[in-house]
Amino acid sequence: MKIVMVGSGYVGLVSGACFADFGHEVVCVDKQESKIAALKRGEIPIFEPGLTELVRSNAAAGRLSFTTDLAGPVSAADAVFIAVGTPSRRGDGFADLSYVYAASREIAQALGRYTVIVTKSTVPVGTGDEVERIVRELRPEAEFAVVSNPEFLREGAAIEDFKRPDRIVIGTEDARAQQVMADVYRPLYLNSAPILNTSRRTAELTKYAANAFLATKITFINEMADLCEQVGANVQDVARGMGLDNRIGGKFLHAGPGYGGSCFPKDTLALIKTAQDYGTPARIVETVAAVNEQRKRAMGRKVVAACGGSVRGKTVAVLGLTFKPNTDDMRDSPSLSIITALQDAGATIRAFDPEGMEQAKAVLPGAVTYCDNAYECVEDADAAVIVTEWNIFRALDLDRVRTLMRSPILIDLRNIYRGEQVREKGFVYADIGRGISDPVSSHAIDAA
Ligand code: UGA
Repeated sequence: MKIVMVGSGYVGLVSGACFADFGHEVVCVDKQESKIAALKRGEIPIFEPGLTELVRSNAAAGRLSFTTDLAGPVSAADAVFIAVGTPSRRGDGFADLSYVYAASREIAQALGRYTVIVTKSTVPVGTGDEVERIVRELRPEAEFAVVSNPEFLREGAAIEDFKRPDRIVIGTEDARAQQVMADVYRPLYLNSAPILNTSRRTAELTKYAANAFLATKITFINEMADLCEQVGANVQDVARGMGLDNRIGGKFLHAGPGYGGSCFPKDTLALIKTAQDYGTPARIVETVAAVNEQRKRAMGRKVVAACGGSVRGKTVAVLGLTFKPNTDDMRDSPSLSIITALQDAGATIRAFDPEGMEQAKAVLPGAVTYCDNAYECVEDADAAVIVTEWNIFRALDLDRVRTLMRSPILIDLRNIYRGEQVREKGFVYADIGRGISDPVSSHAIDAA
């Protein structure tokens, strides 16, 4: 099948490379010439495990190509996926759909034979209707259908998620389009991935509902973690005890500094806005978004409290900057709020992240000293804080860390160490919601 991906960002590139790997003929289109030139050279603009190899091997096999010219490939395509960005619109948080609509207009002008236009970007309910209206207006005679096919892959595990999805949601009531989509996903049908055929609007909403629910799960356990700190309970055990109930499930119950990334913060806001517009406010999601926002900055106060109430004139080493491991993505990362809060409180920041430092330099305000590794980062620091659970931070030589630091204070916002193990080494240790072993109570945090 001939597939075109419009937008070669995260979702477009991963989906395009995976479709090519299924055996389809895929052209990835992007307006940014430098990005396309780099992709043609086999250079991948994002960090995603396995992606470079997948892109290179499929390009070498002639199944995957890159271009800035949309019209040529679209005119011959069976399916054209729209995978452009839908950032939060300034002011109201609603998804900015200008790129989606611009792409729709360009696709419309280029349509040749019957083509299925698929929105893969996360788009609010009703966007497919608008895409259809735009295309119909520009090309009344064209044969096409507009389908919603939301993507559920996670950064850092994107290829695995794409190739072995929990489910595929296909939103269209057009039988011919359903058949094209069945052909596109045939290799996954054969792997017996569940396919859910729904209406277009249902598919659009399913994506937001799933992300909002996961964000709620995380925020729920984060609040339980705060309570654990007060009552002397252990949030990891609480999560285990909850998660063993099949109705709840153990995933996405890791307490931490709050969720970040390019999806949950943006998608919860967009869902809130849609629900308000339709007169059915999503109050739970509204609360989740507000609680998460406050939490990220509160983590800065947690560090201050662990340092005895002040970080003025002190140096804090930040280990991990990206919103999660195995990505270089800094979008809405908790590290941004934490670092800003610490700088506001008078701290000097040293930082290390295995992949995210280039992106961090572009978004972090204020002076930050970027280091080459974790040990250089903690040198002469008054406290070290683990923000992202990269594997290399799980097995630090704690004796070496202690001797390098000016004072051995470790704040572990991902609970990757055991309290006793770290304290035995002479550290003051604070974590998230592991109760009595935590010397820093939230009261102390609020007061700081
Ligand atoms: C998320 C969803 O998991 C994907 O299914 C979805 O396709 C994607 O958004 C999207 O809409 O494109 P992603 O943003 O890549 O994927 O990352 P997640 O693994 O979901 O993590 C999001 C944030 O939640 C991270 O900051 C992570 O640290 C945090 N988190 C996750 C926790 O704090 N605790 C958990 O138990 C799980």
